[in-house]
Amino acid sequence: MKVQKILVVCLGNICRSPMAEGILVHLVKERGLIQSIELDSAGTGAYHIGSDPDRRAQQVCLSRGIILQHQARQVHRKDFDSFDYILAMDSDNQEALKKIAPHDRLFLMRSFDATAQDDLNVPDPYYGGIEGFHEVYDMLYRAANGLLDHILEEKAGV
Ligand code: 4NP
Repeated sequence: MKVQKILVVCLGNICRSPMAEGILVHLVKERGLIQSIELDSAGTGAYHIGSDPDRRAQQVCLSRGIILQHQARQVHRKDFDSFDYILAMDSDNQEALKKIAPHDRLFLMRSFDATAQDDLNVPDPYYGGIEGFHEVYDMLYRAANGLLDHILEEKAGV
């Protein structure tokens, strides 16, 4: 399989998308896919460029055995050429991305969470408490597994 590059995107790139990136890196290692899948995250906003992930995001991920290593960056036009999959955390992020450029594989992250019902948004946990980060972690963990299953299925035999 040709290396598949995945970009996960939220607003600030300090909460949801670095958590998603950390979870995906963990699952990619667990599934023995490190030769096949590359990961990065970015934000549609510029507020936190250069910042470490939010402390609560780091704490919740660490409690599940995942160390977050990322400095926030803003999404660029060139990302649309270099990434095979772009995953938006919510419909606002998705709309902001669509305004930058078209992409064949731009999806909502939670569309790969088999337990998601009508609402496919990963809620922004920034203004809430730590429990919101645990909830986001669980959603992202399910969605990350679903996304990897989807990519492997789509690329099987390619
Ligand atoms: P994120 O959360 O998009 O999941 O990184 C946010 C972080 C910061 C802000 C908003 C959302 N902010 O407005 O500063």
